[in-house]
Amino acid sequence: MTHSVSRMPRRTAAATVLALAGLLATAAPAATAAPVTAVPTTARTSPATPAGTAAAPDVPLANVKAHLTQLQSIATANGGNRAHGRPGYKASVDYVKAKLDAAGFTTTLQQFTSSGATGYNLIADWPGGDPNQVLMAGAHLDSVSSGAGINDNGSGSAAVLETALAVSRAGFKPAKHLRFAWWGAEELGLVGSKYYVANLPATERSKLSGYMNFDMIGSPNPGYFVYDDDPTIEKTFKDYFTGIGVATEIETEGDGRSDHAPFKSAGVPVGGLFTGASRTKTAAQAQKWGGTAGQSFDRCYHSSCDTTANINDTALDRNSDALAHAVWTLSAGTTEPPTGDTYQNTADVAIPDNGAAVTSSVTVSGRTGNAPAALKVGVDIVHTWRGDLVIDLLAPDGTAYRLKNSGNDSADNVQETYTVDASSEVANGTWRLRVQDVGPYDTGYISAFSLTF
Ligand code: TRP
Ligand code: ZN
Ligand code: CA
Repeated sequence: MTHSVSRMPRRTAAATVLALAGLLATAAPAATAAPVTAVPTTARTSPATPAGTAAAPDVPLANVKAHLTQLQSIATANGGNRAHGRPGYKASVDYVKAKLDAAGFTTTLQQFTSSGATGYNLIADWPGGDPNQVLMAGAHLDSVSSGAGINDNGSGSAAVLETALAVSRAGFKPAKHLRFAWWGAEELGLVGSKYYVANLPATERSKLSGYMNFDMIGSPNPGYFVYDDDPTIEKTFKDYFTGIGVATEIETEGDGRSDHAPFKSAGVPVGGLFTGASRTKTAAQAQKWGGTAGQSFDRCYHSSCDTTANINDTALDRNSDALAHAVWTLSAGTTEPPTGDTYQNTADVAIPDNGAAVTSSVTVSGRTGNAPAALKVGVDIVHTWRGDLVIDLLAPDGTAYRLKNSGNDSADNVQETYTVDASSEVANGTWRLRVQDVGPYDTGYISAFSLTF
């Protein structure tokens, strides 16, 4: 049976005249086996249960690489580096900050002094989320003075930036508050991150539910190393790599050699990813990851050849996606189901006088999870005596929600919007408006039935 059902896009006006192939719905059997739940029109109990944790989007490798190209250009234009105290560092900060500001982040530049030069940390807060549960992801943005620092650490900086931009593009509404950070003067001894942690009031520090660090994640002869720290963060990364069939090892090339260390010292749960620096890839590692055994993970570590040519795209891509996966998973976010979508059937359905129940149907598709706790049910029935009518909403599984009883209802027509707590019903499927005329003489028809999610 084909029903004329339309789905109006969220952004169109609610009242839309649509061309509908008007077909009468078949009469449903009068017998009712399904449980009937009386719901007052004003009922609104608990809020809709979340549709479930949303999956992280793919972080486009091309976008991450475009940031690396910009960082390379900045280095090239500023004496070949992006080091603390040099103009290439501040230009790098300005580049990242402009992207974040345009994407709706609240950015803060934190200044400090090191070796007689001003340094900067860039902090970007994504508005919303629980202010008492803050999840952080960060990367050092400075290079050594001998090169452009594209793997160390343009790679982590670009991946954190692109993940933040993905949060914005998705309109992500995490349960936790998200904060992204780009540290200055890491290469001088974790100066920026130490400064940040030392200057964070104890109350703010205690709100940090985790810090994830990304320092060198595109090494040209890569390994896939996961920090062995907070078990939840570690497992989240490992699960991601398991899911894409990539083996990981525990990071051992210098625990405490990057910006997670001050957080760890302050008692904040930490984790992170790393693809290797000057250490040599073993034969066993080359066996499982490919690449060249007996060679450094990054032969250009801290040297002038750490340019855009010093990146393994596959490693950068996988680590960027793992980063986004961890941000999405650990912030326990949900993408709220769209609201305001209306599904309707405007085919007329005759209601037999004092006879069998009839139904009008709408088919809902493309939604996730359950229907809302305040599902709006639009009922338009033309009738000469509405007191004759018993009206139910039938969920896709047949559960009936009583909208209106018969009797003591001395008027004509039913033109109402009922509110139903349908939060225990799966949204997708065929919903029916069931109408039965239980009194003789007066008659009418269903003119329209709509559901607004
Ligand atoms: N932090 C180092 C740098 O920037 C790189 C490094 C060496 C590293 N060992 C590490 C980073 C272990 C993370 C984990 O030069
Ligand atoms: Zn370095
Ligand atoms: Ca009647």
